[in-house]
Amino acid sequence: MTLESTTLRKFLLQLQKQDALDQDLVLLIEDIATSCRIISHQIRNGPFLDILGATETSNIQGETQKQLDVIANDVFLSHCSNCARVAGLVSEELDDVVWLKDRPKAGDYLFYFDPLDGSSNLNVNLSVGSIFSVVELEEDIETLSNDVVLVKGTKQIFAGYSLYGPSTSLVFSTGQGVNGFTHKMGTGEFLLTFPNMQLPETTDEFAINASRWRQWDPVISRYVQECIDGEDGPRQKTFNMRWTASMVAEVHRILTRGGIFLYPADKENASRGGKLRLLYEANPMSFIVEQANGRASTGRERILSVQPQSHHQRIGVILGCSEEVERIESHYREIGQ
Ligand code: AHG
Ligand code: MN
Ligand code: MN
Repeated sequence: MTLESTTLRKFLLQLQKQDALDQDLVLLIEDIATSCRIISHQIRNGPFLDILGATETSNIQGETQKQLDVIANDVFLSHCSNCARVAGLVSEELDDVVWLKDRPKAGDYLFYFDPLDGSSNLNVNLSVGSIFSVVELEEDIETLSNDVVLVKGTKQIFAGYSLYGPSTSLVFSTGQGVNGFTHKMGTGEFLLTFPNMQLPETTDEFAINASRWRQWDPVISRYVQECIDGEDGPRQKTFNMRWTASMVAEVHRILTRGGIFLYPADKENASRGGKLRLLYEANPMSFIVEQANGRASTGRERILSVQPQSHHQRIGVILGCSEEVERIESHYREIGQ
């Protein structure tokens, strides 16, 4: 396959031919791509459609919903319910799991999604994204409840994101590396533009919301201080810092040129577990980062191994180049935490 001629469909059919992808997952990924295309169109025309502002509603997490949070949620719900194997959908914007079947069977799909990530960027015309992942049910389900979706991230068979930046990217993994596609304006196709994305082992760029400095625990403060000390400190090199307020944009940058992203549990958010949500933010992004040779951790344990306790559960997230994430993990071990 050559780069210019590899459409998303061609790429997926190739995997299907190699028995590396079920036909149902091919259909679902195509429905996801359609959803992202529609959302991208809505975002780019947002000022004309007057849909960049807030609604009068809040989601289950008490966050005011933007109109586009709701629109993007509806787009995923309607398009990603087409595949006959999808049994349930879990969204950041919905209180409960949406069940499409009365008695889901083993092998049916659960679809998790954050319809719009970084939505505070919308009305300032900065990057936002969507995050999604799929797991297969391990056994037939007699009784439907929100607990059914509490599955560890290691069980994901697919995870991806779409970044609505200067161009629209669709990046995903089916467990065999990470590939990135770009939406071509005009023809509307997604073309393979970033095959086999890989993180370098090392980096000199970090991303954290530094306004939370006084909330950090001693390990995070130590790590950031070591970066800021640059050539004069223990790292003996100068670090650069970025913060886009959209995890999707951060992860895309890290997949493209390396780096580390931190939204740790801190004194202010610890009682809630952290800021980012485990099932539809941390798990999909951790899967992608690991598939691209990186590492994803709370600082104390691998995110993908965490047993979820509730479906909107939050967690501390530290992900990116292995060497940096391991350094923070070793700082925690040093102080016996
Ligand atoms: P969402 O828009 O889905 O609620 O997620 C926003 C998240 C994440 O993408 C980003 O890293 C972080 O919140 C930004 O937080 P700050 O406002 O603290 O910068
Ligand atoms: Mn989000
Ligand atoms: Mn969101």
